[in-house]
Amino acid sequence: MQIAIIGSGYVGLVTGACFAEFGYHVTCVDKDGDKIERLRKGIIPIYEPGLESLVQQTQRVERLSFTTDLKEAVAKADAVFIAVGTPSRRGDGHADLSYVYAAAEEIAGALEGYTVVVTKSTVPVGTCRKVAEIIRQSLQAAQSKAEFDVASNPEFLREGSAINDFMRPDRVVIGTETDAAGHDRARAVLQQLYRPLYLIETPLVFTGIETAELIKYAANGFLAMKIAFINEMADICEQVGANIQDLAKAIGLDGRIGRKFLHAGPGYGGSCFPKDTLALARTAQERGAPTSIVESVIKSNDDRKQGMAQKVLQALKAVTGTRKTLAVLGLTFKPNTDDMRDAPSLTIIPALQEAGIAIQAYDPVGRREAEKFLNNITWAKSAYEAMQGADAVLILTEWNEFRALDFRKMMGYLTYPLLIDMRNIYRLEEMVAAGFDYVSIGRPTLYGAQLASQQATSIA
Ligand code: UGA
Repeated sequence: MQIAIIGSGYVGLVTGACFAEFGYHVTCVDKDGDKIERLRKGIIPIYEPGLESLVQQTQRVERLSFTTDLKEAVAKADAVFIAVGTPSRRGDGHADLSYVYAAAEEIAGALEGYTVVVTKSTVPVGTCRKVAEIIRQSLQAAQSKAEFDVASNPEFLREGSAINDFMRPDRVVIGTETDAAGHDRARAVLQQLYRPLYLIETPLVFTGIETAELIKYAANGFLAMKIAFINEMADICEQVGANIQDLAKAIGLDGRIGRKFLHAGPGYGGSCFPKDTLALARTAQERGAPTSIVESVIKSNDDRKQGMAQKVLQALKAVTGTRKTLAVLGLTFKPNTDDMRDAPSLTIIPALQEAGIAIQAYDPVGRREAEKFLNNITWAKSAYEAMQGADAVLILTEWNEFRALDFRKMMGYLTYPLLIDMRNIYRLEEMVAAGFDYVSIGRPTLYGAQLASQQATSIA
């Protein structure tokens, strides 16, 4: 089976490399000639664990190739995946579909024989039909004999674990339509394409086209809601002296709730949840079925990021008085990615700087991206270098290398032993034992160092 993927960004690359790994012949297309040249050399433009080696390996065995020539790639393909970007349109929160429609137009000009055109990009309900309309009109105008069907096949990959998510998904959603004669050729092609996953018992969920499109938004909206919910519970925990981790564990053990996506933190970020919740809320409003829940989730998350800056300022004031140099560890919206889109750090750090706090930052891979959005940062090459001469330290993203920091070393570098941990990666007891002032999310604030010094005074 021959596959063409239009758009060699995050989704396109992962999809292309994984299909090639399954044994298909895949051509990834992009308009950016420099990007294609680099990809041919096995250099990938994003940080995603395992992706570079998969791209190199599948190219070596000649199952994956890269081109700027859409026509050639599409002409020989059995299935064409549209995986171009759908950024939030400035001003109204709608997904910008201009790249999708432009791709549809170009694909139409290149189709030969029978082809399934699949939307993989996250697109609002109705887009797939619009894509079909564009292609149909274009084929008619050109008096082409090419045949096609459209399908919606949303992706549920997470950055940082995309390869594994593709190879072992919870489910694959395929939206197709039966023609007047009762045939569903698109379904048959996609069923064949996903056979390797079917063989490992992955549920293939076949739906209508609109349902498939909405499933993607509903899934992201629901997950965003879980996070916003647990974050608000964390705030209540702090006020009543409860512990959010115990609470999340206990409610998560109820199978109806589920334990995933109940980690309290500084608010969700990334290229998906913020954009997709906004687009879902706008679509719902326009279609006359407004969703007050998703609207509240968006507001709750926006407010949270601002609130986190205040939390840091309060902790700094309580412990360090007037001191104001802060080491910040982790800037990307989550670990194992260099993606800074809508990262909480982009709200929290400028708010701290505004309040006069100097920032010494370290991120294992995010610096290059972060430098595009953040100014006046003193960049460090390691977590410890960031802490040298700082008054306190703030963990914003839970990279593995921050999970076992050397407390003694930290004590030596920091003016005050204050650790603000927005991902709850340390246990309260160990922080008390280490003598840290420890501020986390939805758990009691510990002034371990202060207690220790009070005890020392009273003994003296
Ligand atoms: C998300 C979804 O998880 C994927 O299923 C979906 O395919 C993808 O969006 C997409 O639409 O393309 P992603 O944005 O890569 O994936 O990352 P997540 O792991 O979902 O994390 C998103 C944000 O939520 C991060 O800022 C993360 O720190 C935060 N989060 C996540 C929490 O604060 N708590 C949690 O319990 C989980």
